[in-house]
Amino acid sequence: MLVVKDVGKRYGDFTALQQINLEFNTGLYGLLAPNGAGKTTLIKMLATLITPSEGEIQFKGKNIIDMDEQYRELLGFLPQQFGYYKNYSPKQYMLYLAALKGIGKKEALQKIDELLEKVALGDVVNKKMKKFSGGMIQRVGIAQALLNDPKILILDEPTAGLDPKERARFRHILTELARDRLVIISTHIVSDIESIANEIIMIKKKQLLYKDSVEQICATLNGNVFETTVDFELLEAFRKKYVLLSEKQEYGKMIVRFIHKSVPEAEWKQVVPQLEDVFLYEYRDEIEGEV
Ligand SMILES: Nc1ncnc2c1ncn2[C@@H]1O[C@H](COP(=O)(O)OP(=O)(O)O)[C@@H](O)[C@H]1O
Ligand SMILES: [Mg+2]
Repeated sequence: MLVVKDVGKRYGDFTALQQINLEFNTGLYGLLAPNGAGKTTLIKMLATLITPSEGEIQFKGKNIIDMDEQYRELLGFLPQQFGYYKNYSPKQYMLYLAALKGIGKKEALQKIDELLEKVALGDVVNKKMKKFSGGMIQRVGIAQALLNDPKILILDEPTAGLDPKERARFRHILTELARDRLVIISTHIVSDIESIANEIIMIKKKQLLYKDSVEQICATLNGNVFETTVDFELLEAFRKKYVLLSEKQEYGKMIVRFIHKSVPEAEWKQVVPQLEDVFLYEYRDEIEGEV
């Protein structure tokens, strides 16, 4: 349906992305990479907010930039920084956006009620948004992106700043929405998408690293992830020797999870790789200090 062909993006002398090739169909795609990897850059190109420096993006064989309005009618978009009006209620805000999109008031009112219900804001349609939590605001963001019943829904870091309960609700809403449309969501948080995405896209060093199912991506570390206990005194040496994924204290001992790509020690326990392991391993140089 949507195809990214040899796309690159430069900002002046700086190359943000190069040689990106992707194909999207109906379903949920998670664009997963650390901050600064180029997620917003790719998403803005998919939303025609910026144009590729090289290559092109096609919808059903047509360049989306040439399709112009015809493409934007298919598109729902929630930007990373979503501007809303504190003194508006969701209903007023959506009515305003509907008017901008040329949707008639009667049709808009019905649509707005339906959408706010869908994102579980049915009880607060007339409450001012300044009283809303971050999760509620983001749900207004989804609702506004759905006003034109888009075939393609693109959300840039929609879960930033949400608590675990709101994240769970969000995952549920996204799964529903991806049943009959293409949904692309970017995030740097593995748990936001690992259980719901049909495919995960990872970008590393400005290029495509993986575009595959969670299972296939995890399989790249099969046989390489281990857990063992380490004495506190030896922990520092262990950290230097291996790529550590996590450390936790249990009954006064340190249990470490780490990567090793050759013959393991007998006492190590081999474990099944998780997407978080791949994320921490692949981006170990980029996210140092953040985790
Ligand atoms: N308008 C811009 N001008 C110059 N550099 C930019 C611009 N937008 C983004 N960048 C740079 O491109 C890289 C990718 O940014 P971005 O796409 O925002 O990444 P992400 O969304 O994954 O955090 C970063 O190094 C960022 O500083
Ligand atoms: Mg971003």
